[in-house]
Amino acid sequence: MAKRKKAAKAKSKAAAKKTAKKVVKFTAKKLAASNGLPRPSAKPWGQAGRALDGVRILDFTHVQSGPTCTQLLAYMGADCIKVERPGIGDITRGQLRDVKGADSLYFTMLNGSKRSITIDSKHAKGKEILDRLVKLCDVLVENFAPGALDRMGLTWEHIHKLNPRMIVASVKGFGPGPYEDCKVYENVAQCAGGSASTTGFRDGPPLVTGSQIGDSGTGLHLALGIVSALYQRNRTGRGQRVLCAMQDGVLNLARVKLRDQQRLKHGPLTEYSQYGEGVPFGKATPRAGNDSGGGQPGWILKCKGWESDPDAYIYFITQAPVWTAICDLIGKPEWKTDPDYATPPARLPRLRGIFDAIEQWTMTKTKFEVMEICNKQDIPVGPILSMKEIAEEPSLRATGTVVEVDHPTRGAYLTVGNPIKLSDSIADVRRSPLLGEHTDEILRKVLGYSDKEVAEIKASGAITAPEKPTKAEAA
Ligand code: COA
Repeated sequence: MAKRKKAAKAKSKAAAKKTAKKVVKFTAKKLAASNGLPRPSAKPWGQAGRALDGVRILDFTHVQSGPTCTQLLAYMGADCIKVERPGIGDITRGQLRDVKGADSLYFTMLNGSKRSITIDSKHAKGKEILDRLVKLCDVLVENFAPGALDRMGLTWEHIHKLNPRMIVASVKGFGPGPYEDCKVYENVAQCAGGSASTTGFRDGPPLVTGSQIGDSGTGLHLALGIVSALYQRNRTGRGQRVLCAMQDGVLNLARVKLRDQQRLKHGPLTEYSQYGEGVPFGKATPRAGNDSGGGQPGWILKCKGWESDPDAYIYFITQAPVWTAICDLIGKPEWKTDPDYATPPARLPRLRGIFDAIEQWTMTKTKFEVMEICNKQDIPVGPILSMKEIAEEPSLRATGTVVEVDHPTRGAYLTVGNPIKLSDSIADVRRSPLLGEHTDEILRKVLGYSDKEVAEIKASGAITAPEKPTKAEAA
């Protein structure tokens, strides 16, 4: 009897082992196929929610660098709660104002798709509200001057203790080092990041660029850092700090100039027009005017109407594979076989003369005519578009890159929509919020305060601007 029992037990054990093995095999196979992800959604494209749905951001940013980052995350679907100082708000609301009494375009074009709550972060009750927000948000983004967040009591230790999942993302002017305590604006970063020394003409001073590579560029870097930290949090369950220094961001965008700095040790930079002009190189990467940064020489050339239109120009690239087409186009067929012009190395010392000849041709056409003729022949050219032309360009409107939104106090305005297009996540481009427009809504619906508590908060002065002294008091 005992023997039979023992045999049956062994049999069932073996069967269980076999089944378990099968299950493990099946699950592993399934997991390998799905990479641990849910089944692919069967919803129509663009109707399966937005990329950052469910991510809540405590947006403590101001001016440009931080707001660029959070606006992008808001476009991607994150719930972005912008905390502003009562009565004042982000300083840009009132800077470069074009419509009296309305938020400036400086502010509105950097704070779309966000909600605004006013909180005095130095008020005891304000601190309490902020702590509650910290517990409920996924990411805190800030770009205050170094030390300002700590002075509010929002140290990393405090935040991490309240919410270990919180990601704290900061823009600062400089990383750790001699300048870490400095306040920094756009052009300071362009200068310190190597952009200004390498921009402009050789015989002129360093130049800053119109693109806001220090502010908006660093905001973009920060957004990538935040999304990466959110992804890592899925595995680790904990938040981390993300820091982007504006100097680093600019340098990252100017890396080809650090490339050239190192190439200088091995001889002149032959693609710079100063090489062809016989001007010796110094110790550092020089300003290259409108030379192209890559291996295909290019320059900005006049087009028809340049005498009266400051933007009647085209960028023309003498790409090697289309050299013969260029020669035919500009009426220099002999250059196709002339040993002085037939090969890229032969052309390098003669670039100025070559571009002069091409310009004689481009000056007979409008920039759009040049564009049409050259593109048919695969010759890379780029019209110098004015901001007016860009604002009116229908294709940019059609793709949502330029968007018109309505605003209750300033009326309709143009903004730059999401330049990053996701095929299954529709960009959420809404107007910027008025100062404190969502204070009540956030206190009640996000933070769960009761009517009585909201009334107490209002009375405490934590969310309202201090009363202005009367004339008599002020005197
Ligand atoms: N309630 C109460 N106080 C608030 C507040 C709120 N909701 N929001 C901000 N403040 C306070 C801060 O606590 C700080 O006070 P403190 O200096 O007493 O601690 C004060 O406002 C000013 O902040 P700060 O960041 O120093 O502003 P600023 O106008 O003097 O400097 C910058 C502006 C941009 C130069 C500076 O913030 C900076 O260098 N930021 C980092 C780099 C950066 O992003 N630069 C690009 C900007 S586009």
